[in-house]
Amino acid sequence: MCPEKHLPLYRITERHNIHRKMVTNKIYEPADRMAMLIEDCPDVLEMLGRFGIPLGFGEKTVAELCQAQEVDCYTFLCVVNYILNNVGDVDIQRLDVPTLMRYLRASHVYYLQFLLPFIREQLMACLDHETTLSRLILRLYDDYANEVNTHMQLEEDKVFPYVDSLLSGRHDNENSIDAFMSTHNNADTTLRELKNIMTRYLPSDVRTGNHLAHILYSLYRNETWLANHARVEEALLTPAIRMVEHRLRHSDVNRRLSQMISHGDAGELSARERDIVVGVVQGMSNKEIAEHLFISLNTVVTHRRNIARKLHIHSPAGLTIYAIVNNLVDISEICT
Ligand SMILES: [Fe+2]
Ligand SMILES: [Fe+2]
Repeated sequence: MCPEKHLPLYRITERHNIHRKMVTNKIYEPADRMAMLIEDCPDVLEMLGRFGIPLGFGEKTVAELCQAQEVDCYTFLCVVNYILNNVGDVDIQRLDVPTLMRYLRASHVYYLQFLLPFIREQLMACLDHETTLSRLILRLYDDYANEVNTHMQLEEDKVFPYVDSLLSGRHDNENSIDAFMSTHNNADTTLRELKNIMTRYLPSDVRTGNHLAHILYSLYRNETWLANHARVEEALLTPAIRMVEHRLRHSDVNRRLSQMISHGDAGELSARERDIVVGVVQGMSNKEIAEHLFISLNTVVTHRRNIARKLHIHSPAGLTIYAIVNNLVDISEICT
């Protein structure tokens, strides 16, 4: 299923590379002192609050602080190292999805409830409200803020609840993280336009010049911040959710199989249907099965339809599990 709306996103592009680089050339580890990490790269300060790690940590290490705040240390360091150094060497299986979700949700709150209104206030204080130009600048900023708000709200309403339901063990086959993220694309044209106008065309005097330059700098920082946020969603959250989906799908097949076995349904297949299952498991096409069993192709298709209806299993992988569990085949006969 496709999400109802597009998810405009502030994806990093090569064009942003120079601004993006926060490279420290160091991969931080659990035994590193958090204070050192901040001294190396103050950008980490913005991340701390979103993980729920307060300041005032003395000489404590990253591992000690994460443990104290019940933050998964591996996930925290993955996000930090990924954002600071663009390191893609992540063991997705070790990522803790609840920790990632906590970080992303807190990031939305920070951005929507603090940063965007804060910059707007700064703009209001700086611009002369009487002029048409000022009103247009504000309108452009509001358009940009609305785009971000729409994007994040959609994630809050659709994507995050979907992830929550997966985490509680429920998986519907209609949704998938890939379907949601397929429209997670670049729509930062409004922000680019705003920066461009402020840089090139907005007149300022000595009084307003510094203020406007500071706001402009904040907008550049925002762009980087949003791009990093998107990278975490795409490069860390999405593959981690894919794994959860895969696990749930598998356990669903196993659960249905064990239900069938416990209800004695395994014996419901006719001898002919069992032969067909064996053929499928051995990697034969319908045509090959027909030739092998001396029956028509149509008969094979009908049998396969009946098998799927009886077992609620449609995939060759599911039939393979069924065949093994019911001793229809030996593992050595399975075509992998
Ligand atoms: Fe987001
Ligand atoms: Fe997003």
